Amino acid sequence: MKAAGNKITRIRTLRREIEDHNYHYHVLDEPKIADLVFDQLMTQLISLERDHPHLQTSDSPTQRVGGHPLSGFDEVVHAVPMLSLSNAFTDEQVRAFDRRCQEALEVTSITYLVEPKLDGLAVSLRYESGVLVRAATRGDGSRGEDVTQNVRTIRSIPLRLMGKRYPRVLEVRGEVYLPREGFNRLNDRQRLRNEKPYVNPRNAAAGSLRQLDAAITAQRPLEFFCHSLGMREGGSSRAGHSETLAQLQSWGLRTNPQNQVVQGIESCLFAYLRLLDARDKLPYEIDGVVYKVDDLGEQTRLGSIARAPRWALAHKFPAEEAVTFVRGIDIQVGRTGALTPVARLEPVFVGGVTVSNATLHNRDEIRRLDVCVGDQVVIRRAGDVIPELVSVVTRERPDNAVTFEFPQHCPACGADVIADEGGAIIRCSAGLICKAQLSESIKHFASRKAMDIEGLGSKLVKQLVDNNVINDVADLYQLDVNALEELDRMGNKSATNLIASIDRSRQTTLARFLFGLGIPHVGESTADRLALHFGSMDALSTADATEVERVPDVGPAISASIATFFAQNRHREVIQRLRDGGVEWALPSAQVARKSVLAGKTVVITGALKSMSRSEARQRLQDLGVRVTSSVSTNTTYLLAGTNPGAKLDKASALGVQVIDEEEFIKLMD
Ligand code: IVH
Repeated sequence: MKAAGNKITRIRTLRREIEDHNYHYHVLDEPKIADLVFDQLMTQLISLERDHPHLQTSDSPTQRVGGHPLSGFDEVVHAVPMLSLSNAFTDEQVRAFDRRCQEALEVTSITYLVEPKLDGLAVSLRYESGVLVRAATRGDGSRGEDVTQNVRTIRSIPLRLMGKRYPRVLEVRGEVYLPREGFNRLNDRQRLRNEKPYVNPRNAAAGSLRQLDAAITAQRPLEFFCHSLGMREGGSSRAGHSETLAQLQSWGLRTNPQNQVVQGIESCLFAYLRLLDARDKLPYEIDGVVYKVDDLGEQTRLGSIARAPRWALAHKFPAEEAVTFVRGIDIQVGRTGALTPVARLEPVFVGGVTVSNATLHNRDEIRRLDVCVGDQVVIRRAGDVIPELVSVVTRERPDNAVTFEFPQHCPACGADVIADEGGAIIRCSAGLICKAQLSESIKHFASRKAMDIEGLGSKLVKQLVDNNVINDVADLYQLDVNALEELDRMGNKSATNLIASIDRSRQTTLARFLFGLGIPHVGESTADRLALHFGSMDALSTADATEVERVPDVGPAISASIATFFAQNRHREVIQRLRDGGVEWALPSAQVARKSVLAGKTVVITGALKSMSRSEARQRLQDLGVRVTSSVSTNTTYLLAGTNPGAKLDKASALGVQVIDEEEFIKLMD
């Protein structure tokens, strides 16, 4: 009897511990223990429950894995209907809402709770005596489906409320959603299994929650935020919506940390802008914000119309997705020759702007999407990201839709194309002989983060290249006003301005120049680091791979790309002509130092010095661009040996490393 009692206590303790860890991990986002330790606790509980099936309860964390598949969902009648929200799309509609509330309440300013509007699906959770007894979807607002088994698998939903002061019956409402990361992982898996990917996180969340086999739901990383109270029986109620949410939170329910209480409608609009800005950085999708009159007494006085409360309003963000038609597919040839397909679209308003092109990335992506000219498609523009084609509405495909054949030749110059990087990227093989590649590389060279030649736009570059006025970037520095005036729509004033900005670009930095050269894999930050490390073009162009790979974040791929670039006579010649044309860069002080004979060398210091301490010597060497290391190896250039040099001297002699004394060292530094 005693043994059984112990088991019961152990099971209870384990359940409490596990749910507490679930709460810290999923609700507070602050795990207290390692996943492995959590798994061990879970394994213990599972085995205890297996040995004592009569001790099994529905609120045990072992019940979060899904039971027997259902044949269908039971219907649930909501005791209090699940309302929807009225929508607003403009600031004016929002202000009008506020005016209506003020008039009805006869007040001059209202306190609002501003919440993100999650793009998931609403569920209602019923707790009796603190235990989750039923979960239902919203359905039509009056009747939903019983999804208790599935909801139990969501770890941010407590199976048992925390604390003791919860009401006897509590119905909370909130949003079940799939975070972006979980959505992407799920879709990767769908593709891997040759199953259709979900169109968006909302559909994926709905599809995941409405699985008859809850074991499948258990594998989907669904999450939950609660946003309102359905009803309560017993317990005392609060004065404000925000206080109610705080109370729900104290019982272990997850509320959105982005929620904020504000005074007056202008503050609501400000909060809207703040969330619109944060939108892409949040780990889940939101499609707007919800303003709720915070005072519950005021909510009651305002009441509801039809299916939405008068005290709340959803202020929608501009939609990030829209449906339109593909009018054509063009190929763009990039600076490195990559052929990028672009869908020409029937213009459509999305993400706050009119979009008429969407990238199709590469040949494989066209195959994956199965997109034809004439198709109806879903396009997406999130934040400032280039619009993308998300999916094709295949069932709407017109009879005259045309399959796109990826070209075998460069559409700009006719050269053969070659596939690289695993076949995904198709490139024109002609290099800078191809006018499209040449134009793109000149545009890159002149761009703001490179040589920053103001006024040298796409159309002008195209004209210059097409008319053979320039054949490479070095030709830019041979241009004069007369040559430019020959071009279409180029007056004396613009020509003079352009020549002046070309002239200004002559004074540049090594980092900008390197970036402008467009060496594959050398982006802005790599160019910065290379410039700092080498200090000069000559040092970089003659460095071996080992030296190049000493630069932070530079690996074999980048060093190989740099070597290939400088191995080409044509590139070396263009660089020389650029310098002859007057392009130059000042050496920043850190780089001036590196001009010393010691720059880039590796030195080890051993023994005692007379004129300075070892750390002073180290500092002075480092200022000269020397790497000071502590142990002698074949990479060591010099061993600086003071008195009592010890074993390092022996090692240096054995390895044939040159040994210098203090006097020679001082001479070298000067
Ligand atoms: S409150 C009576 N708050 O939007 C008010 N709803 O269009 C009931 N939703 O069915 C909802 N985020 O699924 C509320 N912070 C939020 C919400 C939110 C998303 C959903 C909810 C509701 C739909 C109404």
